[in-house]
Amino acid sequence: MKIHTKVVHAGDRKKPGPHIPVTTPVHTASSYFYESMEQLDRVFGQEEKGFSYARYENPSTAALEELVAALEGGHGALACASGMAAIHIALITALADRRKSVVAAGALYGASVSLLLQVLEPSGVAVRFVDVCDLDALRAAVAEARPGCLLIETISNPLLRVPQMDRVAEIANEAGAALVVDNTFATPLILRPLEQGANFAVHSATKYLAGHGDVLGGVVVSDERHFATLRALSRTLGPVMGPFESYLTMRGVKTFALRMERQCANACRVASWLASHPRVSRVHFPASAEHPDAATIRRLFPPNLFGAIVSFELKDAGRNEVFRFMDALNMIVRATSLGDVHSMMLYPVMSSHREISPKHRERMGISDGLVRLSVGIEAPEDIIEDLEQALAS
Ligand SMILES: Cc1ncc(COP(=O)(O)O)c(C=O)c1O
Repeated sequence: MKIHTKVVHAGDRKKPGPHIPVTTPVHTASSYFYESMEQLDRVFGQEEKGFSYARYENPSTAALEELVAALEGGHGALACASGMAAIHIALITALADRRKSVVAAGALYGASVSLLLQVLEPSGVAVRFVDVCDLDALRAAVAEARPGCLLIETISNPLLRVPQMDRVAEIANEAGAALVVDNTFATPLILRPLEQGANFAVHSATKYLAGHGDVLGGVVVSDERHFATLRALSRTLGPVMGPFESYLTMRGVKTFALRMERQCANACRVASWLASHPRVSRVHFPASAEHPDAATIRRLFPPNLFGAIVSFELKDAGRNEVFRFMDALNMIVRATSLGDVHSMMLYPVMSSHREISPKHRERMGISDGLVRLSVGIEAPEDIIEDLEQALAS
């Protein structure tokens, strides 16, 4: 071979030896070579398992998918480039052979609301929002809208309401609708939606699963009935997670259960400290006896795991006081996102709920003094000390 050919081919496309790497490598190849056309034909025809093209499946991503499917107890999983890509493909899979109508929780993540109103509704999907913690209201909405799909979150943002997921699943099932659950806040350590009767569990893997603030990703886990459609739509649309993000997420997941346990324990300590602080008028946290869904939480959550988000209201505070308080934080990071190893604080009025009118926000119970803290794995004393000095300032 001449040098211009050697540079392209020498050393590449070796069969792996008898060794098995102890962790899954980053497989960057965009396509796969087989020794015979017969075999490639069988792989393309999906008669034989194998990789052919990275938009279809990639070994690094497939390993992560197997891992998250096992955590959620699903038939299979699809890893996506973002949580929003995961929610989008879960919804269109759920609606593929059903009525083009969605009944969704009234308190969804902002971009999920935008997805419903700015993408799905203009393409002919009817959308209706309802308080999914009120089962009578949900039943009435389902009877009227006759949806093909219900979309809820395990723990809502930022007020941390918890719907009775098993009952919501019964209502969906009786109506012939699929149930899609965004399980980002609860994670499979606390609740596994498919075990509660849901058809899809979706994640922003950007959050607790990856956990280190260095990945954007999403995962959809589905039951057996929907998985072939999910994969087929993904092969066409290509919302897939890249191999490097899959590697980082898989590496993150290995410590996810340990991190989450620690974050949940830290959040309990921080929430009870905040509850007795004179400058805090209200704490929203699922462990609280006054939580509006306390009975559901006792019934569905494992003991001592309540999630690791604490929302709280500063007494008599508006935007200026909240800005002063947040600017005074030394260690807690002022940034959007959640679920990372470091504690982070966000001001919903300025970020996640910015587009919602003040009147509507007030109806939702989101005041100008409300902040949301994602509690990290740091020493709880340090988190509390930072909050204390910032509150004092
Ligand atoms: C509950 C929830 N679902 C979905 C998303 C979207 O995830 P991503 O930003 O990875 O697209 C977020 C992001 O904050 C979220 O908080």
